[in-house]
Amino acid sequence: MKILGLNTIGFNTSASLIINGELKFAIEEERLSREKRTRKFPILSINYILKKYSLKIEDFDAIAISWNPGINLEKFDLTQSEGNSYIPSILHSVPNHLFRIANNPNSEMVIQDLLIENNKKIKVFYINHHLSHASSFFFSKFKKANILTLDAFGEKQSGGLYYGNDNKIQKLSDLYFPHSLGSFYSTFTQLCGFRAQSDEWKLMGASAYGEKSIFYNKIKNLVDLKKDGIFELDLNYFNHYLFHRPNFYNEKLLKYLNIQVNKSETLTSKYYNLAYAAQTVFEDILFHILNNLYKKNKNSNLVFAGGCALNCLANGKIIHKTKFKDIFIPPVPDDSGAGTGAAFYVNNNILNYKRKYVMKNNYLGPESSKLEIKEKLSKYKLDYKFTNKPEKLAANMIASGKIIGWFQGRLEFGDRALGNRSILADPRQKDIKDRINKVIKYREIFRPFAPAVLDEKVKYYFEEYQSSDFMEKTVKIKSKYKKKLPGITHNDGTGRLQTVKKINNPKFYQLIKEFCKLTDYPIVINTSLNYKGDPVCASVEDAIKTYHLSGLDCIIIGNYYIIK
Ligand SMILES: [Fe+2]
Repeated sequence: MKILGLNTIGFNTSASLIINGELKFAIEEERLSREKRTRKFPILSINYILKKYSLKIEDFDAIAISWNPGINLEKFDLTQSEGNSYIPSILHSVPNHLFRIANNPNSEMVIQDLLIENNKKIKVFYINHHLSHASSFFFSKFKKANILTLDAFGEKQSGGLYYGNDNKIQKLSDLYFPHSLGSFYSTFTQLCGFRAQSDEWKLMGASAYGEKSIFYNKIKNLVDLKKDGIFELDLNYFNHYLFHRPNFYNEKLLKYLNIQVNKSETLTSKYYNLAYAAQTVFEDILFHILNNLYKKNKNSNLVFAGGCALNCLANGKIIHKTKFKDIFIPPVPDDSGAGTGAAFYVNNNILNYKRKYVMKNNYLGPESSKLEIKEKLSKYKLDYKFTNKPEKLAANMIASGKIIGWFQGRLEFGDRALGNRSILADPRQKDIKDRINKVIKYREIFRPFAPAVLDEKVKYYFEEYQSSDFMEKTVKIKSKYKKKLPGITHNDGTGRLQTVKKINNPKFYQLIKEFCKLTDYPIVINTSLNYKGDPVCASVEDAIKTYHLSGLDCIIIGNYYIIK
């Protein structure tokens, strides 16, 4: 049974392949097209899968897509359907009419038969967007769990509460756009001068530099937390749902907050405080929804997905602010992972195959063989050397203050580089954040770098242990280490933790272990191998290019390395 999962809507289109219930491959189109956050159909990704697994399109048993266009036709639109002004509008007016008279239009999916050569039919399943996010449950370790999805918007929803039980997902309730937590956060991202639906990371980073101010109560007053766990925004102050308007905010909001959109490269304390307030209200809304979800069936397992689950700062607090004890947040909770979810929904919920895959890492993309690496380094006449202990070499370099590129094994699926396409550095050095920013990342000063820590040592350096294999949670660093590890300590004393387990990545684990032998610290700075504006490196060529266009001191590609 081969299922192709696709995200073809919005940013970061992607393709994934499930064979007999196991996720074999997944990649975002941007990694191959090199166009960051592309919205283009993932044709390069699909072709890569076909070639790698020697498949033809007709070999797929099903194709799953994480958006159900049928839902967008449910609502009968008289102007569009009766008042055709030009012939092609029958393409939507006919289904629009038919959906209206259908007794029970299926909001969960639309199925299409794709007729291909030799009379073979492939079923294409268009799965409801939030159900696709929720289907991350199927590759979690939980037999039963509560599921929450939150993002900017799906077809009509902006969130969903579900319950997963073995092979089935049951919907408990919906949250409907325009009351959207994702769009709420994007509005303040934009007010701080960043790009909405792109730079939310920056708002999260900046929030650590702010403090409680008048903005908190003002923003909180724009949100109505309802008894049953849903919430509503005061839409008079937002424009995100008026798609013909250029901005998420409106004049009324600017006046109300007595603020202008930040036009400067840097942020003043006013904007830091605004970021702090937006983050805090985001968390208030999230915990309100989660606490009500828990009440519905008192199961303390949680699966959290959708773009809002990228908010590591909030993720790290779930365990303290709610009754959830065990939390699974996939490494790709955003839309690029929704295609994977749709494929699992088809495999488990529709076709009823037993669950047999648990996602333990995100090393799901292409890999370069030893021979290929050597051939490419030779082809470009680079002065490379061989090492049979790349982990030891890397540790030595990092401990001596070098900033290195680390390219090993399979490419990560999702935004987080988890030790296969990484830039690594020493967290003990005071100026290391500035140096990384100067030589490669060119990021704003308020954006933190993440610590990759040996799993069994986390408790010694952080105030609590939380498993964070996908760098999905931010946790407080123990006071005595804040000054000793300035490279990974954010302004609020936290770090975006990656717990590194031997079973998930033995090579990266060994590297950190070697670094610990030299420095006594089982921690390295880990950030993705790319320069600003470029997608994470996928191929050897991408790595070589990144190395030469940046101030990286060294790059280790498999067992080969180049030093400047
Ligand atoms: Fe989404």
